Amino acid sequence: MKDFLKKLALLGLVLAVIGVIVLVSGIVPVKASSGHWPITRWMLGFASDRSVAFHSIGTEVPSLDEPGMLTLGAGIYQSNCKWCHGSPGSPMPPVPAAMTPAPPYLPDVLHELDAAEMFYIVRHGIKFTGMPAWPTRQRDDEIWPLVAFLQQLNEMSDSEYRDLVDVDKDTAAPEVVVEQCAICHASDGMGHGTDRVPVLAGQNEVYLRESLEAYAEGNRHSGVMEPIAARLSKREMSDAAKWYAGQTMTSQGRLDLNAESIQAGQRLISQHDDTLKVAACSKCHGQENDPSYPVLAGQPAEFLNRQLALFRNRSRGGSGNGNLMHSIADALDENQSQQIASYFASLRREPTESEN
Ligand code: HEC
Ligand code: HEC
Ligand code: HEC
Repeated sequence: MKDFLKKLALLGLVLAVIGVIVLVSGIVPVKASSGHWPITRWMLGFASDRSVAFHSIGTEVPSLDEPGMLTLGAGIYQSNCKWCHGSPGSPMPPVPAAMTPAPPYLPDVLHELDAAEMFYIVRHGIKFTGMPAWPTRQRDDEIWPLVAFLQQLNEMSDSEYRDLVDVDKDTAAPEVVVEQCAICHASDGMGHGTDRVPVLAGQNEVYLRESLEAYAEGNRHSGVMEPIAARLSKREMSDAAKWYAGQTMTSQGRLDLNAESIQAGQRLISQHDDTLKVAACSKCHGQENDPSYPVLAGQPAEFLNRQLALFRNRSRGGSGNGNLMHSIADALDENQSQQIASYFASLRREPTESEN
């Protein structure tokens, strides 16, 4: 027995030395061009599938058929995923197809994943493959619209996909707006009826530009906007900000609001001193105030409410002024935020002479 163990130890030592020699010599090819051996590919795939299945257990999946989720998800896919995974009607792009492992054409593989698994993969990425993690660690609420879209992608026709992502090119908007923003914000800044996307039409120009800079520098957190803003030059940022600030807010795309909620929100705001013990919102928000502060009137309620929640748990970030909002958001509970958001959403700014 002792002899056997000794031999085993010796064998182990010899194998370890060979292993080190192989590693140090550099003989092992790391080239992507030859792909994996079928057995390596199978093992990695199996391990990865098991890991995703295990770690996504217990994820609470929210309702995925809320208004606008699919449209926003398609916009995110077109802006941030398509260049690796292709899309209905567009063949796989050749450069990522030469990766090992190559990104799969998703409509062929998504039926194997449930919503929680898709969420896990998009949130965390997959190690040792080119599949990147979600660009921000600060928040993951933005991934769900993408999951809502992925769930429908395997049955989506070319023309259904185009209906979701095509933009109207017949506009005087600058090229950056048409090519990179219109898919979610529309060229007129009113969006496509998605209440998670802010209205940019008529927003203060300085605020728009500073927000784009904050996203690009990673100071304002959004897995959707950070990569988009980071691709823009300073010139494109100012062109887009100028264009959108010059558009007029219309009633287009506003969703139904609850009248009681609006009134409750209005009451809260007028009693800000007594009930909330915070400065009046109108002290900072509104056309006549500091142009680096946003105008809230007419923004979708869902968007405003979400921003307040992000401020409350310190995961919004913002331009240099963002922390002015922390104590204010802390003073509001979820219900109050929702009411105030409904109130602001119900207001609409009429265009004035001084606008543009
Ligand atoms: C830089 C290229 C790249 C980008 C960008 C990218 N992916 Fe991937 N993705 C990959 C690769 C490579 C894999 C394959 C991993 C593997 O084989 O295990 C993958 C795998 C996946 C899978 C798992 C598929 C399966 O077979 O189980 C999903 C889902 C996915 N990606 C979704 C997305 C979404 C959604 C986005 C956009 C937010 C995205 N990917 C962006 C490269 C990319
Ligand atoms: C894939 C969809 C999508 C695209 C494309 C997109 N956006 Fe956005 N944008 C969003 C979403 C969603 C938000 C809200 C993000 C958040 O919670 O911070 C947002 C927020 C913004 C904000 C902050 C507004 C505010 O009131 O706080 C600005 C400014 C902005 N986008 C400008 C642009 C510009 C300019 C482009 C084109 C270069 C662009 N966006 C492209 C979806 C998109
Ligand atoms: C002392 C000034 C100040 C007061 C008072 C104030 N805010 Fe703000 N608020 C700001 C600033 C500055 C920002 C933008 C931060 C940035 O640049 O990212 C902001 C952003 C917001 C946003 C995000 C808007 C967007 O488009 O992203 C919401 C929602 C908001 N405030 C709600 C409120 C409400 C509701 C009140 C009143 C209860 C209020 N604020 C009072 C300064 C203020």
